[in-house]
Amino acid sequence: MKTELEKLLINFKKEIEKIERLEDTETLRVKYLGRKSGLLQKITAQIPKLPTSQRSGIGTMINEIRAQIEHILEEKSAKRKVSGEETYVDVSTPGKKFETGSLHPITLVIEEIKEIFYYLGFTWTDGPEVESDLYNFQKLNMPPDHPARDAQQTYYIDSETLLRTHTSNMQVRFLENHKPPIRVLFPGRCYRRDMPDTTHLPSFYQIEGLLVDDRSKMTDLLGSLDFFAKRFFGKKTKIRVYGHHFPYTEPSIEVEVHHPKKGWIEILGAGMVHPDVLRNGRLDPGKYRGWAFGMGPDRLAMLKYGINNIRILYNNDLRFLNQF
Ligand code: PHE
Repeated sequence: MKTELEKLLINFKKEIEKIERLEDTETLRVKYLGRKSGLLQKITAQIPKLPTSQRSGIGTMINEIRAQIEHILEEKSAKRKVSGEETYVDVSTPGKKFETGSLHPITLVIEEIKEIFYYLGFTWTDGPEVESDLYNFQKLNMPPDHPARDAQQTYYIDSETLLRTHTSNMQVRFLENHKPPIRVLFPGRCYRRDMPDTTHLPSFYQIEGLLVDDRSKMTDLLGSLDFFAKRFFGKKTKIRVYGHHFPYTEPSIEVEVHHPKKGWIEILGAGMVHPDVLRNGRLDPGKYRGWAFGMGPDRLAMLKYGINNIRILYNNDLRFLNQF
């Protein structure tokens, strides 16, 4: 039996030499190591018939030969795979579906606003969400006891640090470091201690616009916002404007757009940059003037896409998000 086993190994080595294709190594594996009718199994099945004297060592030998054959088969198929000699496609295997993502509706709106104002010469930059009371309020004409702070339910981190309540925090920051003419947008997240409901969340987006030069007028602001509304909502869109108050613009306005189903909807606050703000930004109000606006991309996304609950924008439900 031992010689039989030795022959088997020699034959196997000869056969594997001749093999060209990857599938054939599998055929060879079955022929020699197959559980039911492999050659090695056939020899093993005869062990009980041997006289006891001849049985010793046979088991070990069989195991060694099996291990050798397995090792050789392994090496052979590894080589084939690495050299890429065997490539074939099984056309019957089911394909893999690759899911593609899409941009979030708020991102889409911010991108669109940027694009529209880009036509008017604007660029954009980010700003800090964790802000000092100084830039969020004081440098915008809102000293610590100012009543306008009440409307901005603020999250304080400590007495001097807060989560910005609006993107207007960027106005003085930007003015301090840039020379007019300035045309810039500040998109980003803001925070207020609002009770969540269908139109409010404690965290939301704003996009601020700031223009400073030596000749801008209120009419330029109105024309730019009208241009924006028509681009964003459609050519026939009308806006209307009424007086308002912000401590950092003078005069101040609020702007509404006419929505075909909902009527007049307020979309932004704006005004001529207050001389104090220019001064805080180290600019001479006798020489420079400008305007600013702040609007809410969440609100705009809701109007544009007909969404009636702001929370839908933030729950990351794929049934909703996949529509964009
Ligand atoms: N910061 C104001 C708000 O949060 C909007 C605004 C921006 C008003 C710029 C005037 C100028 O409502």
